[in-house]
Amino acid sequence: MNITVVGAGAVGRLWGSQLSRHHKIQFWTRQPVDNIRFSFNTLDGITHPLAFVANDAMQLASSDLIIVTVKAFQVETALGQLKAKIPTSTPVVIMHNGMGTHKRVEALLPENPIIYATTAQAAYRPDEDTLAHTGIGQTWLGGLNLRAKKLSDLAGHFELALAPTQWHPDIFQPLWTKLAINCAINPLTAIHQCRNGELAQAGYQTQLATICDEVAMVMSAEGYPTSGPLLKQQVDKVILATASNFSSMNQDVCQQRATEIDYITGYLVERAKAHGIEVAENLRLWQQIKQLEQQYHDR
Ligand code: PAF
Repeated sequence: MNITVVGAGAVGRLWGSQLSRHHKIQFWTRQPVDNIRFSFNTLDGITHPLAFVANDAMQLASSDLIIVTVKAFQVETALGQLKAKIPTSTPVVIMHNGMGTHKRVEALLPENPIIYATTAQAAYRPDEDTLAHTGIGQTWLGGLNLRAKKLSDLAGHFELALAPTQWHPDIFQPLWTKLAINCAINPLTAIHQCRNGELAQAGYQTQLATICDEVAMVMSAEGYPTSGPLLKQQVDKVILATASNFSSMNQDVCQQRATEIDYITGYLVERAKAHGIEVAENLRLWQQIKQLEQQYHDR
């Protein structure tokens, strides 16, 4: 396939480089560069120098697939700029942390098959020119609209690039589960500027349990029945599996960048309000991250 990856952050570079073993890849970026070069450090410690074409409008127009890997708050702007350049039949995969972009994406691209994806693959950029793949995790893909629900074969291409990947008949289920994990880990690791593994300490257990209880109430009201203790078990597993990682929100706060809080805890708070459910702990965490962002934006 001819694939355009929108966004050249850690997640975009990871999927682009792995899909390039079987497909033709180009990147589409905010900066008008004509190529992207970086060293890819594999999990086995091997370094591959990689180079890709970037921002070729002809290649974009003839893409068989577009994968949007920008942050949730950049999705609308990115798609607004691409809309006139892509055929209405091109499938578009949206992959970001958090939830809440799907209605605007559907409104912006009413005819394209839209697929949502969530991944637990871990990667980061130790410097501008390097991408390090730091952990394997499950990726889920699933159709948002009817046109996309027929495209389950796509999961095979993603699986070949980075296993394990599966197609889910209701993508909102894995999106909510990932949201629960992000609601628990991201704000706390950002506020306390700690690695994910530190949340395994006794001092965090009551707060994590309360976060999970609140998320479970909202998930159940949204039609995805679960319980706080069940979510807490899943959160604990991720804390252990990613113990030495700094979460994406920790890194955003540390580097004084905008965070995805409005699409993680903010989305939970919004859905809780719609159902008349009180989520005091999550609301407090959302406010704390907003305050942190405000402090560095005011500087
Ligand atoms: O946002 C992140 O960093 C990741 O989604 C997760 C799962 C919290 C692991 O660090």
